[in-house]
Formats: sequence, structure tokens, C-alpha cells
Amino acid sequence: MSAPSDTAYMVDLATFPVPDYSDTEHETWTRLYARQRELLPGRACDEYLAGLARLELSETRLPRLVDISRRIEQYTGWRLTRVAGLVENDDFFTLLAGRCFPSTDFIRKPDELDYTPAPDMFHDLIGHAPLLTHSRFAAFFERFGHAGKAAFASGHPATEWLPRIYWYTVEFGLIRAAEGLRIYGSGIVSSPGEVLHSLSDAVTRHDFDLDAIAARDYDIWHMQNDLFVIDSFDQLEDDFAAWCREARLG
Ligand SMILES: [Fe+2]
Repeated sequence: MSAPSDTAYMVDLATFPVPDYSDTEHETWTRLYARQRELLPGRACDEYLAGLARLELSETRLPRLVDISRRIEQYTGWRLTRVAGLVENDDFFTLLAGRCFPSTDFIRKPDELDYTPAPDMFHDLIGHAPLLTHSRFAAFFERFGHAGKAAFASGHPATEWLPRIYWYTVEFGLIRAAEGLRIYGSGIVSSPGEVLHSLSDAVTRHDFDLDAIAARDYDIWHMQNDLFVIDSFDQLEDDFAAWCREARLG
């Protein structure tokens, strides 16, 4: 595992200043989190729900990234760093390869409860952080970082394929559980509209196939009508490892 400190995005959360959140911002967190806590049981997968519980998030106060990072680290060694917004590809992959996830520390405006075009800390912490505590997902995500670094360093065609794989797994993945279809993608679990839509008849659900995913473009502006379903997080990691070997990546 390479250290992620060779990117300017790595900050020491123990000393990085925590924003002085307003009552309105805490209220936005309270409302968003209450709504998702209501929706997610029976729809999100058990691995995600167990991860969410491990984070011990406050129901009424915006969390501090340093606290969440420490909780995640106990389970998988993954940590958070604080970023102001989207991260450039090579830095993003370098962070992931070093088991570090870039999180924002700001919350959306009250009139953006249903939708925000750019990730905020609700998306990052409710969407991404829980599965960082799951060992197989964590291993897959680190491997994804190494593959991305290798692809961007060599101008490999996977520079086009990997964002699609990210989209259809990390952001919009579904999983077949013993009890039925469940959600694990961060773009779904952090959005009430996508939670209900992703499990509805409006969506065509495909068996997990990384070649098919790599060839399928995605639309960031609308609800997702085509989703891919994994059988397990073992499958996600094992298939991705095999796909990387085939593509000569990482
Ligand atoms: Fe995301």
C-alpha cells in the first residue's frame, strides 16, 4: 500500500480546523439523516447498515470528520481527508490506493434537501463512509485506486472505463441479499428519490459484468434506469481483480 501523502489533498484532520456550523446547517443534517434512517432499513444491504452503525453518527449534529475517520480506521485502516470539492483524477486514485477517502466538510443548503449537484458531507458520510468499514469493500476500493493510478500513468483506455465502473458500483450499486434486492451504492443511499427509484420497476437491473459496465456510459443528470447487481462483496472484489489482471492494470 502506498502512502497517500504524495498528494496535496492529504490533510491532518487532528489539526485541521472544524467549520463552525450554524443551527440551520445542523438542522439540515438532522432532517436529511432522519429521512434516510426511515428509508434505509429493509432497502440498504446489511453490510452498509452495519457500517453506518459503526460510525456512531449524531442524529442532530454535524459530525467531525476526524471522529468518523478514527472509527473507520479501527476496522479497515481506511481514513478520511478533507477536500473542498471534487478531486482531480490522479490525486483521487492516489488517495484511494493509500486507503484514504476525500470527504467534504460542508452541508447543502436547506432548499437542496432532495438534490445537490455536487457532493456534500451528507453524501460523503452517509453514502461513502459506512462501507469503508467493510473489509472486502475496502479491499476492492483500494484496488480500484491502484488500477486508476496505473491507468492514468500509462494513458490506458481504462481511464474511460474506470469512471463507469465507479459509477455502477461505488455510486449506484445494488446487491442480491438472501432477503431480496438491496442497495449499497453511495449515490442511492444518500438520496431518498434514488432509494425508492432504484428498487422500483422503472429500473432495468443487470447481472454484474465488468466488461458490460466498462462499455456503458452514464447520465449524471437523471434518475438511473439501468443498474448492475452484485451477488456479494466477494464477487465485487474478485471479479474486479480478475478484470484488472485481464486489462493489465495494477
Ligand atoms: Fe460519491
